[in-house]
Amino acid sequence: MTLNGKQILLIVSGGIAAYKAAVLVRRLKDAGASVVPVLTRGGAQFITPLTLSALAENPVYEDLFSLKDEAEMGHIRLAREADLILVAPASADLIAKMAHGLTDDLASTTLLAANGPVAIAPSMNPVMWANPATQANVATLMQRGIQVWGPADGDMACGEIGTGRFEEPEDLVARTLAFFAPKPLAGKRALVTSGPTHEPIDPVRVMANRSSGQQGQAIASALAAAGAEVTLVTGPVNLPQPPGMTVVPVQTADQMLAAAQAALPADIAVFAAAVADWKPKTTATEKLKKVGGQDELSMSFVKNPDILATIAQADHRPALVVGFAAETENVVANAQGKLARKNADWIVANDVSGGAVFGEQTNTVTLVSAQEAEAWPTLTKDQVAERLVQKIVESLP
Ligand code: CTP
Repeated sequence: MTLNGKQILLIVSGGIAAYKAAVLVRRLKDAGASVVPVLTRGGAQFITPLTLSALAENPVYEDLFSLKDEAEMGHIRLAREADLILVAPASADLIAKMAHGLTDDLASTTLLAANGPVAIAPSMNPVMWANPATQANVATLMQRGIQVWGPADGDMACGEIGTGRFEEPEDLVARTLAFFAPKPLAGKRALVTSGPTHEPIDPVRVMANRSSGQQGQAIASALAAAGAEVTLVTGPVNLPQPPGMTVVPVQTADQMLAAAQAALPADIAVFAAAVADWKPKTTATEKLKKVGGQDELSMSFVKNPDILATIAQADHRPALVVGFAAETENVVANAQGKLARKNADWIVANDVSGGAVFGEQTNTVTLVSAQEAEAWPTLTKDQVAERLVQKIVESLP
């Protein structure tokens, strides 16, 4: 997927993140897009027109009343020729103007004249972002079908920490690619479980596993990029929350089951979570203390619910149920046994005989159904996700 042949009108408004617009132009062009920049007066305080025009290899439009620009390309044409208008960074001020239809400069006039897709990547101080005025303006824009990309969480140039950070240029390019990608799963609902579960032993200790959640999250993102309405139910992971889907964070297997059931009905369900098979029989209400002379500790465990098996046997069974399995030997036979026991349609069998998979960037899997087994080469987890989603698209009516 590339942005070849796509024209993006990039409106750069005021804010310290405007300097990142330079990288964004480069990355969009690397992906094949042609970029036409529009710079607001505020934006021009942070980045020069020369930088943007040199990187975009296009003139930069700034002034609504400049005869030269108007003669070359009026704001109506600017708005209409673009396949996407991307406002990045979008300041609180420009967002407010958009929400209220104000037109006192070229950027806001062009936005009011637009009749195609528009996306904004907000960037501002966290308190400005959280202000009910900004939130109401953003809600208005979303209602009108404008895409809101970000803002992200993190430390800000102003020294504060919170939500308001400009999305990284690479993430904005990924969003742009996803925006233009075909949407074969539009109208389909998908459930993905991901990550480990944490089963509490006492208020400060849990029984956990090393699942990173990367594979599950990559699948959720690939499903969302294909147009599915995705609910990601994830155990505790150390990953940024993926955009464009409903994320339900959980701790335990019981919570994961409840959240997965609440996400039904779904057309597609992918169970990538490494669910603890067992949980402590009792959870101590106070921290367990060492007792003098004690050298051993034993605990009793009880079985956790099998989330995949429960949902694959439920009344509202999703049309396609995909499980994962970690196998060290007889990969296909074991996976087919698991598939039958759990009533799954496919099992993505991980060959873990060569060593650890958890936390690695790559995965070597075999896609197993009742009839056949397809061994895939070693791929990145993103590639595994894309290939799996491709298979899902082919299999659905
Ligand atoms: N699974 C689940 N709920 C559980 C246990 C597993 O939903 N309580 C799902 C996992 O998300 C995965 C598949 O079932 O899709 C894995 O099944 P499991 O029987 O745990 O297989 P392995 O992890 O390979 O472990 P083992 O072979 O030891 O049973």
